[in-house]
Amino acid sequence: MSAEPREEIIVHLGDRSYPVYIGYALLDSVNSMISDGVSKVAVVTQRNIGVLPEIDRPSEIFYISDGEHAKSLSTIGGLCSGFAQMGLNRKDLVLAVGGGVVSDVAGFAAASFHRGVAFAVIATSLLAQVDAAIGGKTGVNIPEGKNLVGAFWQPSFVVCELSALETLPERERRCGFGEMAKYAFLGAEELDMMPLRDQVSACVRVKASFVESDEREGDRRALLNYGHTLAHAIEAVAFGDSGTDLKHGEAVAIGLIFAALLAKRLGRIGQDRVDDHFRVVNSYGLGTKLPTGMDADTLVRAMFKDKKSFGSLAFVLDGSAGVEVVRDIDPSVVRETLLELENMK
Ligand SMILES: NC(=O)c1ccc[n+]([C@@H]2O[C@H](COP(=O)([O-])OP(=O)(O)OC[C@H]3O[C@@H](n4cnc5c(N)ncnc54)[C@H](O)[C@@H]3O)[C@@H](O)[C@H]2O)c1
Repeated sequence: MSAEPREEIIVHLGDRSYPVYIGYALLDSVNSMISDGVSKVAVVTQRNIGVLPEIDRPSEIFYISDGEHAKSLSTIGGLCSGFAQMGLNRKDLVLAVGGGVVSDVAGFAAASFHRGVAFAVIATSLLAQVDAAIGGKTGVNIPEGKNLVGAFWQPSFVVCELSALETLPERERRCGFGEMAKYAFLGAEELDMMPLRDQVSACVRVKASFVESDEREGDRRALLNYGHTLAHAIEAVAFGDSGTDLKHGEAVAIGLIFAALLAKRLGRIGQDRVDDHFRVVNSYGLGTKLPTGMDADTLVRAMFKDKKSFGSLAFVLDGSAGVEVVRDIDPSVVRETLLELENMK
């Protein structure tokens, strides 16, 4: 473990601004990050996360279960009851220690309890460090859809403890790389050439800039969904199909390659830029092929069913002016690009 100094990046949001600390061995400093006015801390985490700061004031630990199903209204209900029983009040703190599931759940419980108590995050997965913990999007799933119930609730601080990544399962690490890869095309140039610490910082900086300019995802923040349209279609088609074992970050990596091929087909970028996409995705050890058995027509149908499609196909695509939302794309061009991807060696 290295004892290099921590890096601090501020997410500038007026009176909701907060620091993101990136580095090693930061847990000992967590107490100094907590405001003096906080008298109790509710720590929300999962049992398999081997990271737990020692809090210097009365605190209780709440364990939620592992996996996407833990992002539920019943988890929120259980946490809020626990908060009430420990006497947590509006001036106290909910501290999330974990990946994106923990930060989404703990953040939404904090936003709801007493109509809002402060929350902070110690992000322990790569995906949480570069994405989920920053920006204040919190929420849970309901049977009708993922992340359908939630709130914008900015944290008071975020800690990206890099040593935590050493215990992260290899596949989860790769999934984090899938989300990370998109930042290489959203302003973090030559991302894959940097040491990991600098990669995390570069991604946090890009994410912070998007959040600062569009806190409530009106427009620009949607560009963070680069690579996600196909990824969501793959996930929708794979849903319930136990034969397709693809995680979100892995689907995003395929989505990035698809987006590059589509952008080239539409004359927005050249082959050199497509090659850049392959280089970045390959450098993270991620696959670029569509899962077997997923044909182009099924995927196009799934894209039309996406709640954000509004009856036409829109993609976040690269181009000479950078990455932007491109609407009303001819479904036959999308189908041809999917066939191109399907037939790639
Ligand atoms: N709010 C947002 O802006 C935003 C953005 C992107 C994703 N998300 C959400 O984030 C979730 C995915 O996050 P994730 O990929 O971190 O998944 P996750 O939270 O499920 O973590 C993945 C697995 O790794 C384990 N883990 C985490 N840190 C560990 C560590 N240091 N050592 C050992 N194990 C560890 C977790 O317990 C879990 O089993 C999804 O629910 C997604 O919707 C939210």
